[in-house]
Amino acid sequence: MNAATPRLFRPGDGAVPPALSGREAQQDVLSRCLADLVAGSSPPHNVVLVGPRGNGKTALLNWFKGACADTPVDVVALTPHRIPSHEALVDALAPRSAIAKWLPRKVGVAALGSVEWQPNGAAGKDLTRTLIARSRKRPLAVLLDEAHTLALDVGGTLLNASQQVRADAPFLLVLAGTPGLPDHLSAMDATFWSRLGEGLLPVGRLDDTAAREALAQPLSAHRVGIDRDALDAVVEHSQRYPYFIQLWGEALWKRHAATNGTPITVDRVSSAEPAVLASVANYYESRYRELRAEGLLDAAVAVAPLFQAGMDATAAEQELENALAAAGIKDAAARFATLAQLGRLGYVWCPPGQVPPVAWSAGIPSLTTYILEHGPAPH
Ligand SMILES: Nc1ncnc2c1ncn2[C@@H]1O[C@H](COP(=O)(O)OP(=O)(O)OP(=O)(O)O)[C@@H](O)[C@H]1O
Ligand SMILES: [Mg+2]
Repeated sequence: MNAATPRLFRPGDGAVPPALSGREAQQDVLSRCLADLVAGSSPPHNVVLVGPRGNGKTALLNWFKGACADTPVDVVALTPHRIPSHEALVDALAPRSAIAKWLPRKVGVAALGSVEWQPNGAAGKDLTRTLIARSRKRPLAVLLDEAHTLALDVGGTLLNASQQVRADAPFLLVLAGTPGLPDHLSAMDATFWSRLGEGLLPVGRLDDTAAREALAQPLSAHRVGIDRDALDAVVEHSQRYPYFIQLWGEALWKRHAATNGTPITVDRVSSAEPAVLASVANYYESRYRELRAEGLLDAAVAVAPLFQAGMDATAAEQELENALAAAGIKDAAARFATLAQLGRLGYVWCPPGQVPPVAWSAGIPSLTTYILEHGPAPH
């Protein structure tokens, strides 16, 4: 990209992409939560965004943060590395230095108890009570990205506090994480899921319309057209995977000046392809190493053929289990654990909250092809 070409597409950085397409359902739920907070009440549920890596969870959190910016809602955006301990959690959400502005010195409100407020005293440690006071002053949204890596004890405190705070003051907790998040949250609080209702939002690959829009709309906003054939080719190659769409967008955008105002053609797509292929190959290589490090390469190879029929291929859970059995995993519990691990890594994907019998799809179909071609030979 030369100095005159501003950055447009956003591969891999979690910033809100130039067109956040195909996320209307998630945005709708989050917008309703925001409206409740603005109106001074807690939304009917917390929100959990779950999806394999690179599908746009962080982008959605950032979009929501932006939506809150024009409202009286306070936002605290966190990642687990900022809150490794209970003390750090209290510090991030209810820092002692700010407590005075949320609490009157004499605290007589029922939910806070009739205690004499002492900024440096034991009450300062009481996260729930302080958060209630904070959220009563100003509605509060706590956003936690990468929540699947949150320490269990810290998470237990956070979930517990969030349940109590939201009952008394306008408060929302939004968690985002990879497909391991549901199990991780269950380990923190076994009843969390039963209260989540509409707040469980899967974030998977885009549908066809959204993938096209994600590419074409930012280009067209800059008066750069793209031929139908060229768009077909890019959407097919991207597998409708948001990260790859941004890679393609960036590669095309970098070359747009050379189109002299004519729409991007299939030839132009071909000239951008090597740059995209290099990034995609790096990405596959790292996913390959991750599977190998987890001892999952054989299993990944075994299930890969189920997803070779095209971008939308799905397989019944039983088919995956059969493939794993054929690869030598004789024990049913071990097969189940292997499938769950492949799911946690997003190699295969089944949105949470499905009623059995569930259908699995490939996290990224072209990755299963790569693994078939580069992984160990099937047994
Ligand atoms: N709706 C969308 N349309 C197009 N591109 C998107 C969309 N959502 C996200 N992206 C792009 O996809 C890429 C991945 O997004 P993001 O980093 O938010 O994913 P993630 O799910 O948080 O991944 P990870 O689990 O690795 O943190 C980014 O380049 C982002 O700009
Ligand atoms: Mg992310």
